[in-house]
Amino acid sequence: EKGGYPHFMLKEIYEQPKAIHDTVQIYLNKDGSVNFKDLGWTEDCFDDIDHILITACGTAYHAGLVAKHYIERFVRIPVSVEIASEYRYSNPLTTSKTLCIVVSQSGETIDTLAALKEAKRLGAKSLAVTNSISSSIARESDNVIYTMAGPEIAVASTKAYTTQLVALLLLALYMGQLRKTVKPELVKEITDALKDLPKQIEKVLKENDYMAEVAERLIKAHDIFYLGRSIDYAIAMEGALKLKEVSYIHAEAYAAGELKHGTLALITEDTPVIAVATQDNVSSKMYSNIEEVRARGAEVLGIGYEDDAEIGKYTTETVRIPRVDPFIAPILSVIPMQLLAYYTSIKRGNNVDKPRNLAKSVTVE
Ligand code: M6R
Repeated sequence: EKGGYPHFMLKEIYEQPKAIHDTVQIYLNKDGSVNFKDLGWTEDCFDDIDHILITACGTAYHAGLVAKHYIERFVRIPVSVEIASEYRYSNPLTTSKTLCIVVSQSGETIDTLAALKEAKRLGAKSLAVTNSISSSIARESDNVIYTMAGPEIAVASTKAYTTQLVALLLLALYMGQLRKTVKPELVKEITDALKDLPKQIEKVLKENDYMAEVAERLIKAHDIFYLGRSIDYAIAMEGALKLKEVSYIHAEAYAAGELKHGTLALITEDTPVIAVATQDNVSSKMYSNIEEVRARGAEVLGIGYEDDAEIGKYTTETVRIPRVDPFIAPILSVIPMQLLAYYTSIKRGNNVDKPRNLAKSVTVE
Protein backbone atom coordinates (compact mmCIF):
# COMPACT_ATOMS: atom_id res chain seq x y z
CA GLU A 1 0.00 0.00 0.00
CA LYS A 2 3.00 2.28 0.48
CA GLY A 3 4.12 1.47 -3.05
CA GLY A 4 7.66 0.61 -2.02
CA TYR A 5 8.15 3.73 0.12
CA PRO A 6 8.97 3.32 3.80
CA HIS A 7 6.28 5.78 4.87
CA PHE A 8 3.12 7.37 3.50
CA MET A 9 4.54 10.85 3.96
CA LEU A 10 7.44 10.17 1.60
CA LYS A 11 5.16 8.39 -0.87
CA GLU A 12 2.82 11.37 -0.87
CA ILE A 13 5.67 13.85 -1.31
CA TYR A 14 6.70 11.85 -4.38
CA GLU A 15 3.13 11.73 -5.69
CA GLN A 16 3.07 15.50 -6.10
CA PRO A 17 3.97 15.60 -9.81
CA LYS A 18 0.99 13.37 -10.62
CA ALA A 19 -1.40 15.06 -8.18
CA ILE A 20 -0.54 18.44 -9.68
CA HIS A 21 -0.80 17.19 -13.23
CA ASP A 22 -4.26 15.78 -12.48
CA THR A 23 -5.44 18.98 -10.80
CA VAL A 24 -4.16 21.23 -13.58
CA GLN A 25 -5.49 19.30 -16.51
CA ILE A 26 -9.14 19.12 -15.49
CA TYR A 27 -9.48 22.89 -15.23
CA LEU A 28 -7.80 23.93 -18.49
CA ASN A 29 -9.16 24.68 -21.94
CA LYS A 30 -7.12 23.79 -25.01
CA ASP A 31 -6.25 27.46 -25.57
CA GLY A 32 -4.60 27.71 -22.14
CA SER A 33 -7.49 29.57 -20.49
CA VAL A 34 -8.98 28.30 -17.25
CA ASN A 35 -12.35 26.64 -17.01
CA PHE A 36 -14.35 25.95 -13.87
CA LYS A 37 -17.52 25.58 -15.88
CA ASP A 38 -19.33 23.58 -13.20
CA LEU A 39 -19.39 26.70 -11.03
CA GLY A 40 -21.85 28.31 -13.43
CA TRP A 41 -20.25 31.69 -12.78
CA THR A 42 -20.80 34.56 -15.22
CA GLU A 43 -18.97 37.77 -16.02
CA ASP A 44 -21.16 39.86 -13.74
CA CYS A 45 -21.28 37.52 -10.79
CA PHE A 46 -18.59 39.44 -8.87
CA ASP A 47 -20.28 42.80 -9.30
CA ASP A 48 -21.87 42.34 -5.91
CA ILE A 49 -18.79 40.99 -4.17
CA ASP A 50 -16.66 43.53 -2.33
CA HIS A 51 -14.69 41.19 -0.10
CA ILE A 52 -13.35 37.66 -0.25
CA LEU A 53 -12.89 35.75 2.97
CA ILE A 54 -10.73 32.64 3.05
CA THR A 55 -11.04 30.51 6.13
CA ALA A 56 -9.40 27.18 7.00
CA CYS A 57 -7.14 25.44 9.54
CA GLY A 58 -3.50 24.40 9.64
CA THR A 59 -1.92 23.68 6.29
CA ALA A 60 -5.12 24.61 4.44
CA TYR A 61 -4.98 28.01 6.19
CA HIS A 62 -1.43 28.40 4.88
CA ALA A 63 -2.69 27.68 1.36
CA GLY A 64 -5.23 30.46 1.96
CA LEU A 65 -2.43 32.89 2.86
CA VAL A 66 -0.81 32.24 -0.52
CA ALA A 67 -4.18 32.49 -2.28
CA LYS A 68 -4.63 36.01 -0.91
CA HIS A 69 -1.65 37.06 -3.04
CA TYR A 70 -3.08 35.26 -6.07
CA ILE A 71 -6.58 36.67 -5.79
CA GLU A 72 -5.61 40.22 -4.96
CA ARG A 73 -3.20 40.27 -7.90
CA PHE A 74 -5.48 38.73 -10.51
CA VAL A 75 -8.97 39.61 -9.30
CA ARG A 76 -8.37 42.96 -7.54
CA ILE A 77 -10.85 42.30 -4.73
CA PRO A 78 -9.59 42.59 -1.12
CA VAL A 79 -9.05 39.25 0.58
CA SER A 80 -8.83 38.43 4.26
CA VAL A 81 -7.61 35.08 5.52
CA GLU A 82 -8.87 33.88 8.88
CA ILE A 83 -8.12 30.85 11.01
CA ALA A 84 -11.49 29.07 11.09
CA SER A 85 -11.58 28.60 14.87
CA GLU A 86 -10.95 32.35 15.32
CA TYR A 87 -13.30 33.56 12.61
CA ARG A 88 -16.48 32.16 14.01
CA TYR A 89 -16.05 33.77 17.42
CA SER A 90 -14.91 37.14 16.11
CA ASN A 91 -18.29 38.75 15.44
CA PRO A 92 -17.23 38.96 11.78
CA LEU A 93 -18.09 41.70 9.33
CA THR A 94 -19.22 39.21 6.70
CA THR A 95 -22.17 40.31 4.55
CA SER A 96 -24.07 39.23 1.43
CA LYS A 97 -21.28 40.96 -0.52
CA THR A 98 -18.73 38.48 0.82
CA LEU A 99 -17.53 35.43 -1.04
CA CYS A 100 -16.36 32.91 1.54
CA ILE A 101 -13.81 30.38 0.31
CA VAL A 102 -13.15 27.47 2.65
CA VAL A 103 -10.17 25.19 2.08
CA SER A 104 -10.10 21.69 3.55
CA GLN A 105 -8.38 18.53 2.42
CA SER A 106 -10.71 16.22 4.32
CA GLY A 107 -13.81 18.37 4.05
CA GLU A 108 -14.61 17.25 7.60
CA THR A 109 -12.70 19.69 9.80
CA ILE A 110 -15.28 20.84 12.32
CA ASP A 111 -13.89 24.36 12.80
CA THR A 112 -13.86 24.98 9.06
CA LEU A 113 -17.36 23.60 8.68
CA ALA A 114 -18.62 25.81 11.51
CA ALA A 115 -16.90 28.88 10.00
CA LEU A 116 -18.57 28.11 6.67
CA LYS A 117 -21.97 27.87 8.36
CA GLU A 118 -21.37 31.16 10.18
CA ALA A 119 -20.38 32.94 6.95
CA LYS A 120 -23.48 31.57 5.24
CA ARG A 121 -25.68 32.64 8.14
CA LEU A 122 -24.37 36.17 7.64
CA GLY A 123 -25.34 36.02 3.97
CA ALA A 124 -22.03 35.17 2.29
CA LYS A 125 -21.80 33.19 -0.91
CA SER A 126 -19.60 30.17 -0.48
CA LEU A 127 -17.11 28.02 -2.30
CA ALA A 128 -15.24 25.01 -0.95
CA VAL A 129 -11.84 23.82 -2.14
CA THR A 130 -11.55 20.24 -1.00
CA ASN A 131 -10.01 16.88 -1.76
CA SER A 132 -13.04 14.89 -0.64
CA ILE A 133 -16.08 14.46 -2.83
CA SER A 134 -19.34 14.47 -0.88
CA SER A 135 -17.64 15.51 2.37
CA SER A 136 -19.61 17.61 4.87
CA ILE A 137 -17.91 20.82 3.71
CA ALA A 138 -18.52 20.00 0.03
CA ARG A 139 -22.20 19.43 0.80
CA GLU A 140 -22.61 22.55 2.91
CA SER A 141 -21.03 24.91 0.39
CA ASP A 142 -22.88 26.61 -2.53
CA ASN A 143 -20.08 25.61 -4.90
CA VAL A 144 -17.15 23.20 -4.79
CA ILE A 145 -13.89 22.78 -6.60
CA TYR A 146 -11.79 19.69 -6.11
CA THR A 147 -8.10 19.08 -5.72
CA MET A 148 -7.05 15.85 -7.38
CA ALA A 149 -4.51 14.78 -4.78
CA GLY A 150 -5.98 11.32 -4.26
CA PRO A 151 -6.12 9.88 -0.74
CA GLU A 152 -3.68 11.46 1.71
CA ILE A 153 -2.91 9.08 4.58
CA ALA A 154 0.02 10.69 6.42
CA VAL A 155 -1.15 13.15 9.07
CA ALA A 156 1.25 15.77 7.71
CA SER A 157 -0.29 17.26 4.61
CA THR A 158 1.96 17.47 1.55
CA LYS A 159 0.31 16.73 -1.79
CA ALA A 160 -3.01 18.11 -0.55
CA TYR A 161 -1.27 21.43 0.14
CA THR A 162 0.47 21.77 -3.22
CA THR A 163 -2.71 20.83 -5.10
CA GLN A 164 -4.59 23.43 -3.03
CA LEU A 165 -2.08 26.04 -4.20
CA VAL A 166 -2.59 24.96 -7.81
CA ALA A 167 -6.40 24.95 -7.53
CA LEU A 168 -6.41 28.36 -5.84
CA LEU A 169 -4.07 29.84 -8.44
CA LEU A 170 -6.30 28.50 -11.23
CA LEU A 171 -9.34 29.84 -9.41
CA ALA A 172 -7.79 33.31 -9.11
CA LEU A 173 -6.94 33.26 -12.82
CA TYR A 174 -10.48 32.12 -13.66
CA MET A 175 -12.06 34.89 -11.62
CA GLY A 176 -9.68 37.38 -13.22
CA GLN A 177 -10.58 36.05 -16.65
CA LEU A 178 -14.29 36.58 -15.94
CA ARG A 179 -13.74 40.06 -14.49
CA LYS A 180 -11.17 40.95 -17.16
CA THR A 181 -8.68 41.96 -14.50
CA VAL A 182 -6.01 39.72 -16.00
CA LYS A 183 -4.84 39.61 -19.62
CA PRO A 184 -5.43 36.35 -21.53
CA GLU A 185 -1.72 36.26 -22.46
CA LEU A 186 -0.74 36.26 -18.82
CA VAL A 187 -3.27 33.53 -18.03
CA LYS A 188 -1.76 31.43 -20.80
CA GLU A 189 1.77 32.09 -19.63
CA ILE A 190 0.93 30.90 -16.12
CA THR A 191 -1.16 27.90 -17.19
CA ASP A 192 1.66 26.85 -19.55
CA ALA A 193 4.02 27.03 -16.60
CA LEU A 194 1.58 24.97 -14.52
CA LYS A 195 1.55 22.28 -17.21
CA ASP A 196 5.32 22.16 -16.90
CA LEU A 197 5.28 22.09 -13.13
CA PRO A 198 5.23 18.29 -12.63
CA LYS A 199 8.55 18.11 -14.47
CA GLN A 200 10.02 20.89 -12.34
CA ILE A 201 8.85 19.10 -9.20
CA GLU A 202 10.65 15.96 -10.35
CA LYS A 203 13.82 18.06 -10.51
CA VAL A 204 13.33 19.40 -6.97
CA LEU A 205 12.69 15.87 -5.68
CA LYS A 206 16.24 15.06 -6.77
CA GLU A 207 17.35 17.12 -3.76
CA ASN A 208 16.07 14.26 -1.59
CA ASP A 209 19.51 13.01 -0.49
CA TYR A 210 20.77 16.51 0.13
CA MET A 211 17.77 17.23 2.36
CA ALA A 212 18.41 13.99 4.27
CA GLU A 213 21.97 15.22 4.85
CA VAL A 214 20.83 18.65 6.06
CA ALA A 215 18.27 16.96 8.34
CA GLU A 216 21.07 15.01 9.99
CA ARG A 217 22.59 18.31 11.09
CA LEU A 218 19.28 19.66 12.37
CA ILE A 219 18.19 16.82 14.60
CA LYS A 220 19.85 18.28 17.70
CA ALA A 221 18.43 21.77 17.25
CA HIS A 222 15.98 23.14 19.82
CA ASP A 223 14.66 26.00 17.72
CA ILE A 224 14.67 26.58 13.99
CA PHE A 225 13.55 29.80 12.34
CA TYR A 226 11.96 30.02 8.91
CA LEU A 227 12.15 33.37 7.16
CA GLY A 228 10.52 34.79 4.07
CA ARG A 229 8.84 37.86 2.67
CA SER A 230 5.56 38.16 0.80
CA ILE A 231 4.46 34.76 -0.54
CA ASP A 232 7.67 33.27 0.85
CA TYR A 233 6.51 34.21 4.34
CA ALA A 234 3.35 32.12 3.85
CA ILE A 235 5.52 29.24 2.64
CA ALA A 236 7.85 29.66 5.59
CA MET A 237 4.83 29.20 7.86
CA GLU A 238 4.00 25.94 6.14
CA GLY A 239 7.64 24.79 6.35
CA ALA A 240 7.72 25.52 10.09
CA LEU A 241 4.42 23.73 10.74
CA LYS A 242 5.62 20.67 8.85
CA LEU A 243 8.81 20.50 10.90
CA LYS A 244 7.02 21.00 14.23
CA GLU A 245 4.37 18.41 13.61
CA VAL A 246 6.58 15.52 12.57
CA SER A 247 10.00 16.25 14.13
CA TYR A 248 8.77 17.84 17.41
CA ILE A 249 11.43 20.53 17.08
CA HIS A 250 10.24 24.01 17.88
CA ALA A 251 10.09 26.05 14.69
CA GLU A 252 8.80 29.53 13.98
CA ALA A 253 8.19 31.39 10.78
CA TYR A 254 8.87 35.09 10.62
CA ALA A 255 8.26 37.76 8.06
CA ALA A 256 11.94 38.53 7.52
CA GLY A 257 11.47 42.29 7.80
CA GLU A 258 9.87 41.85 11.23
CA LEU A 259 12.96 40.19 12.73
CA LYS A 260 14.60 43.27 14.08
CA HIS A 261 11.42 44.26 15.87
CA GLY A 262 12.09 41.64 18.52
CA THR A 263 12.86 38.16 17.32
CA LEU A 264 16.45 38.87 16.27
CA ALA A 265 17.24 38.70 20.01
CA LEU A 266 16.70 34.95 19.81
CA ILE A 267 19.11 34.32 16.96
CA THR A 268 22.43 32.74 17.95
CA GLU A 269 24.78 30.10 16.55
CA ASP A 270 22.37 27.53 18.01
CA THR A 271 19.37 28.56 15.94
CA PRO A 272 19.52 27.29 12.37
CA VAL A 273 17.59 29.41 9.88
CA ILE A 274 15.81 28.37 6.70
CA ALA A 275 15.47 31.37 4.39
CA VAL A 276 13.17 31.28 1.37
CA ALA A 277 14.02 33.78 -1.36
CA THR A 278 11.93 33.40 -4.51
CA GLN A 279 10.07 36.69 -4.67
CA ASP A 280 12.11 38.94 -6.97
CA ASN A 281 10.60 42.22 -5.80
CA VAL A 282 11.95 41.66 -2.27
CA SER A 283 15.05 39.56 -2.91
CA SER A 284 17.60 42.26 -2.04
CA LYS A 285 15.75 42.91 1.24
CA MET A 286 15.77 39.20 1.92
CA TYR A 287 19.53 39.00 1.38
CA SER A 288 20.06 41.73 3.98
CA ASN A 289 17.90 39.78 6.43
CA ILE A 290 20.03 36.70 5.81
CA GLU A 291 23.15 38.79 6.50
CA GLU A 292 21.59 39.99 9.75
CA VAL A 293 21.09 36.47 11.08
CA ARG A 294 24.48 35.28 9.83
CA ALA A 295 26.07 38.16 11.71
CA ARG A 296 24.54 36.68 14.90
CA GLY A 297 26.18 33.35 14.15
CA ALA A 298 23.19 31.47 12.71
CA GLU A 299 23.72 28.94 9.95
CA VAL A 300 21.38 29.61 7.05
CA LEU A 301 19.97 27.16 4.54
CA GLY A 302 18.69 29.26 1.65
CA ILE A 303 16.03 28.15 -0.80
CA GLY A 304 16.52 30.02 -4.07
CA TYR A 305 16.41 29.77 -7.85
CA GLU A 306 19.10 27.80 -9.65
CA ASP A 307 20.20 30.93 -11.55
CA ASP A 308 20.31 33.18 -8.47
CA ALA A 309 24.01 34.03 -8.26
CA GLU A 310 23.50 36.34 -5.28
CA ILE A 311 21.87 34.22 -2.61
CA GLY A 312 24.86 31.90 -2.15
CA LYS A 313 26.97 34.90 -1.08
CA TYR A 314 24.87 35.25 2.06
CA THR A 315 23.76 31.75 3.04
CA THR A 316 25.76 28.92 4.60
CA GLU A 317 24.35 26.62 1.94
CA THR A 318 21.57 26.78 -0.60
CA VAL A 319 19.07 24.37 -2.08
CA ARG A 320 18.05 25.29 -5.61
CA ILE A 321 14.73 25.24 -7.44
CA PRO A 322 14.20 25.81 -11.17
CA ARG A 323 13.46 29.39 -12.27
CA VAL A 324 9.67 29.75 -12.51
CA ASP A 325 7.12 32.54 -12.19
CA PRO A 326 7.18 33.89 -8.60
CA PHE A 327 3.53 32.88 -8.24
CA ILE A 328 4.46 29.28 -8.96
CA ALA A 329 7.67 29.24 -6.94
CA PRO A 330 5.94 28.39 -3.62
CA ILE A 331 4.74 25.11 -5.09
CA LEU A 332 8.40 24.21 -5.64
CA SER A 333 10.06 25.83 -2.65
CA VAL A 334 7.88 23.98 -0.15
CA ILE A 335 9.17 20.61 -1.36
CA PRO A 336 12.67 20.79 0.18
CA MET A 337 10.97 21.84 3.41
CA GLN A 338 8.64 18.82 3.30
CA LEU A 339 11.65 16.54 2.77
CA LEU A 340 13.56 18.23 5.56
CA ALA A 341 10.67 17.70 7.98
CA TYR A 342 10.34 14.08 6.90
CA TYR A 343 14.01 13.23 7.37
CA THR A 344 14.34 15.14 10.63
CA SER A 345 11.40 13.15 11.97
CA ILE A 346 12.64 9.71 10.99
CA LYS A 347 16.20 10.44 12.10
CA ARG A 348 14.80 11.33 15.52
CA GLY A 349 12.95 8.01 15.57
CA ASN A 350 9.45 9.52 15.43
CA ASN A 351 6.36 7.97 13.96
CA VAL A 352 6.35 10.25 10.94
CA ASP A 353 2.99 9.17 9.51
CA LYS A 354 1.20 9.42 12.85
CA PRO A 355 2.84 12.10 14.97
CA ARG A 356 1.98 12.15 18.66
CA ASN A 357 -1.18 13.98 19.78
CA LEU A 358 -2.45 14.57 16.24
CA ALA A 359 -5.28 13.21 14.08
CA LYS A 360 -5.60 13.33 10.32
CA SER A 361 -8.97 14.95 10.44
CA VAL A 362 -9.98 17.10 13.40
CA THR A 363 -13.67 16.57 13.91
CA VAL A 364 -13.88 17.90 17.46
CA GLU A 365 -13.57 21.55 18.45
O1 M6R B 1 -8.62 18.39 6.31
P1 M6R B 1 -8.24 19.82 6.49
O2 M6R B 1 -7.51 20.39 5.32
O3 M6R B 1 -9.42 20.70 6.86
O4 M6R B 1 -7.26 19.84 7.73
C1 M6R B 1 -6.78 21.03 8.27
C2 M6R B 1 -5.63 20.79 9.22
O5 M6R B 1 -6.03 20.01 10.30
C3 M6R B 1 -4.44 20.10 8.54
O6 M6R B 1 -4.03 20.80 7.40
C4 M6R B 1 -3.26 19.98 9.51
O7 M6R B 1 -2.76 21.24 9.82
C5 M6R B 1 -2.19 19.07 8.90
N1 M6R B 1 -1.89 17.99 9.78
C6 M6R B 1 -0.89 19.79 8.60
O8 M6R B 1 0.04 18.96 8.03
